[in-house]
Amino acid sequence: MGYRDVYAAWQADPEQFWMEQAKAIDWVKPPSKALDDSQAPLYEWFTDAQVNTCYNAVDRHVENGRGEQAAIIYDSPITDTKSTTTYAELQTQTASLAGVLRDKGVVAGDRVIIYMPMEPEALVAMLACARIGAIHSVVFGGFAAHELAVRINDATPKAIIAASCGLEPGRIVDYKPLLDQAIDAADHQVDFTLILQRDQQPCALIDGRDYDWHAAQDGVTPADCVPVAGNHPAYILYTSGTTGAPKGVVRPTAGHLVALHWTMKNIYDVDPGDVFWAASDVGWVVGHSYICYAPLIHGNTTVVFEGKPIGTPDAGTFWRVIAEHNVRSFFTAPTAFRAIKREDPKGEMIKDYDISCLKALYLAGERADPDTIEWAQRVMNVPVYDHWWQTETGYTIAGNPVGIEPMPVKIGSPTVAMPGYDVQILDDEGAVLPPNTLGAIAVKLPLPPGTLPTLWNATDRFKTSYLATFPGYYETGDAGMVDEDGYLYIMARTDDVINVAGHRLSTGAMEEVLAAQPDVGECAVIGVTDALKGQLPLGFICLNKGCDTPPEAIIADCIKRMRDTIGPVAAFKLVAIVDRLPKTRSGKILRGTMVKIADSADFKMPATIDDPAILNEIKAALQPLGYAKD
Ligand code: COA
Ligand code: AMP
Repeated sequence: MGYRDVYAAWQADPEQFWMEQAKAIDWVKPPSKALDDSQAPLYEWFTDAQVNTCYNAVDRHVENGRGEQAAIIYDSPITDTKSTTTYAELQTQTASLAGVLRDKGVVAGDRVIIYMPMEPEALVAMLACARIGAIHSVVFGGFAAHELAVRINDATPKAIIAASCGLEPGRIVDYKPLLDQAIDAADHQVDFTLILQRDQQPCALIDGRDYDWHAAQDGVTPADCVPVAGNHPAYILYTSGTTGAPKGVVRPTAGHLVALHWTMKNIYDVDPGDVFWAASDVGWVVGHSYICYAPLIHGNTTVVFEGKPIGTPDAGTFWRVIAEHNVRSFFTAPTAFRAIKREDPKGEMIKDYDISCLKALYLAGERADPDTIEWAQRVMNVPVYDHWWQTETGYTIAGNPVGIEPMPVKIGSPTVAMPGYDVQILDDEGAVLPPNTLGAIAVKLPLPPGTLPTLWNATDRFKTSYLATFPGYYETGDAGMVDEDGYLYIMARTDDVINVAGHRLSTGAMEEVLAAQPDVGECAVIGVTDALKGQLPLGFICLNKGCDTPPEAIIADCIKRMRDTIGPVAAFKLVAIVDRLPKTRSGKILRGTMVKIADSADFKMPATIDDPAILNEIKAALQPLGYAKD
């Protein structure tokens, strides 16, 4: 069967399609039914099943003879360490850590926050939670203490599992002070923490609250896998929305297992035993789905890479890891390739490595620009597949179904909708637009298994954020079009979310930080185009009347506050001081127009603008920062 047959089979009977895929999962009690639409427009899949994620990702492979196969290859150029964890070892480690959590009172349904860098133990922590039905919420290490505190308050975890430090090139990121600050700042109190001490920067433990990862496991009875219901949340992952309050995306257990398993062969074209590498971070959805869960559920070997595409030690690192570990399918963000291309434009460094094991490169997380795709194809000599998805879905909405049938690549398009997704382009009134017409990208409900059923403790917000604009559809927040062959093109976000080096950030959250600076009267943050990171945040600030603080000091303070409140990952370094902001007559800030001016793009003067002269002032303020060129 080709792609169009498979898609048609899904369309003809979605429930039958997913019940068939569900056979790949080992159930304690198989689902009697695929879809539960009794609460529509809220949907659940495989609700009445009983299952355990860790069993499917680890134990069953040991039972089926894969115990000695590498489950995890750890490659850390930043610490000069390499190691391999077999499935059997992963089972022992996971059961032991889960035993500690259980003995300290963590039960199914309790939340556990994980704040760890890219080490195999981060996966062990995630799987240990899954083993006992605890709901983990991993927080990316590049966020500041404030963001961690926000997540502690929202997820109300019983415990936090953290490492003593993370490692960035040339800098040790001390996690423990950040953790302590966050715990102090949060209203919710955690019962205990488990701390993995790293040699590079061990930390002091607080008696009675902090426990050492290894010491706590002494003499512990390993924990068995606890069956949970199909709709039990496997994890919560916070992602940026329009406001400063992040959205807690809920991942349902059974749908997650079924859908991720399906993607490994059909999209990434790997068989059990093959080595799969996603160069991302466990703090992002790519890390959840494709560093941890999907490869393990499918019986692959996953690579945990603690390093950067450049500088650890050079732009040849990716090629070395592929060659050395026999990687078959490789997944990363376009920004990583832009970084390599900038450092080694001719791709000279790849000549030192034999990467003939590699069959394809997959790009996602941000728009893949044609230059980068063509460069990667030329240098690596493998097909490059763009694919489009979101934290909310957890896996591909549109991609190239290579394991079913490789579709011809059209550069600039992530290819076609995957079975499960009925993608439509809608106008403002919700009418379906014809091919090649730009509109809002929406997915007809129900979304497929594994996608978010709701937001953590915020079902009303889920409905208003995703379901209200286009009744009967899930609003993706992206704008784009479909061509006459059904190929999708993703053009821009329709909201205040920006994408910086493949990291999803909220300009609304950044505006809240700037607004709190005492000299700032009014502010706006926009995403401007950047050749390396795709976008960079740029803040406009209007100072309070009579303010006598030197402008440089205010700018420096804004940058520091952003780093201290949101974190270094915001990469916030551009600030322009202006007298006023362009607005409509009803007072809405014209952020889209400011983006166009900054990017030196053509734009139509908004009909509702209050005073067109302000746009010249905006342009003049942007030019010293290297934007709004004539
Ligand atoms: N913990 C702590 N700090 C972190 C961090 C982490 N896990 N990840 C990034 N940071 C910090 C960086 O050290 C940097 O700090 P600095 O301002 O002191 O230099 C800041 O956050 C910005 O980081 P980043 O956006 O990664 O920029 P960079 O200039 O360090 O590196 C790239 C640029 C392109 C090499 C890098 O962004 C990259 O590898 N991107 C791949 C993106 C990716 O994997 N995305 C996941 C989605 S698929
Ligand atoms: P995240 O939730 O962090 O994965 O970010 C999801 C958003 O990143 C999407 O809504 C898009 O705006 C953007 N995105 C992800 N993948 C792609 C892609 N292949 N092409 C264009 N944009 C993408």
